[in-house]
Amino acid sequence: MTHMIGVDISDKSIKIAEVIGRKKTTLRTVCWSPLAPNLIRRGVVQDVPAVIAALQDAFKKCSPVAISGESVVASIPETQSFVRILEIPVMSQKEMDEAVKWAVRRHIPFDLDRVYLDWQPVGAVRGKRKQQYVIVGAVQKGVVDPLLQVLDGVGLRVIALELEVQAIVRSILPLGAVDVHGILIVDLGATSTNIIFFDGGAMKFTSSVQVGGDDLTRALAHTLHIKPSVAAEKKATIGVLEREGEEDVAYALRDATNKMLLQIRKVVREMTTQLQGDQAVRAIVLSGGSANLPGIQDVFADVFPDIPVQMPTHWVIILAEGKDGKMPLSAQDASHFVTALGLALRDVEYI
Ligand SMILES: Nc1ncnc2c1ncn2[C@@H]1O[C@H](COP(=O)(O)OP(=O)(O)OP(=O)(O)O)[C@@H](O)[C@H]1O
Ligand SMILES: [Mg+2]
Repeated sequence: MTHMIGVDISDKSIKIAEVIGRKKTTLRTVCWSPLAPNLIRRGVVQDVPAVIAALQDAFKKCSPVAISGESVVASIPETQSFVRILEIPVMSQKEMDEAVKWAVRRHIPFDLDRVYLDWQPVGAVRGKRKQQYVIVGAVQKGVVDPLLQVLDGVGLRVIALELEVQAIVRSILPLGAVDVHGILIVDLGATSTNIIFFDGGAMKFTSSVQVGGDDLTRALAHTLHIKPSVAAEKKATIGVLEREGEEDVAYALRDATNKMLLQIRKVVREMTTQLQGDQAVRAIVLSGGSANLPGIQDVFADVFPDIPVQMPTHWVIILAEGKDGKMPLSAQDASHFVTALGLALRDVEYI
């Protein structure tokens, strides 16, 4: 029986998911632990021994059962990675290596010696038989190396490092979903939001903005002069939905959420000008802990009129196969574990 562990280390927390089985896969357990501030800043490990201790601590907090495997797939945050879809001529595998390096040089903001580079062909260019798309990922060694030190320090066997956006897509969309067009995934975390455009079986655009649910908490605490802990609780229970006696909460949150979504819309507009015209956004799928904000879909409807907004439905298929036919994780909790789940599912064959 294969065990695979996904480890998602973000600025604010560590999340772990373990799945078993390659063909018939079930979620075995999840673990979560908050991280003290500044151990990781914008996805970069600042203090290796402290993060090792935090990761060991997270491994002790698993539910419903303890972790049993040791093979892990870990993620590299979108904020620290560079992903581009490039168009290059169709050629042999060997020639492609050089061609990709050459093409990438013009796009990435840092020296090629200081980055790890990975790429994969993702299909033909519509209407141009001799051209193909390749997805290229680059990450600075200064980001990857301390992360590997942390994972080694805990005694884990690292099977792969993966870009966070790849894991999110795997968690939410069926593998090789070639007939899925125009899906915008908006992954709303605590401090950052990932934006992924998926079209015709591949990611066509990814970006991230440094806003998230913690900004909503801060705005609410500031407007109502309440403690952040109280604001976080009101945010989770009331959200932007007006409730008698608590209208001020809903107003303040609606305003802050609206501002956050306007920043996201700006990125989406830039994306639309970058991509060819026929790749319109047809639907928005939300993930991340902040997707649980009560009423968030209404604010999306205001900012992105005419684009349907939904929570993911696909992962429920995997999660529904838990022990005794019960879902081991609610859809709300799954939202927090979107990256960890996707990482753990890397080797699964049937999705
Ligand atoms: N019910 C809820 N309603 C609104 N927000 C919520 C709810 N539950 C959790 N959140 C918010 O979700 C955020 C945490 O989400 P998530 O677990 O995806 O973040 P993270 O991965 O730790 O952060 P990041 O990816 O930004 O580094 C926090 O801002 C938290 O306040
Ligand atoms: Mg996250």
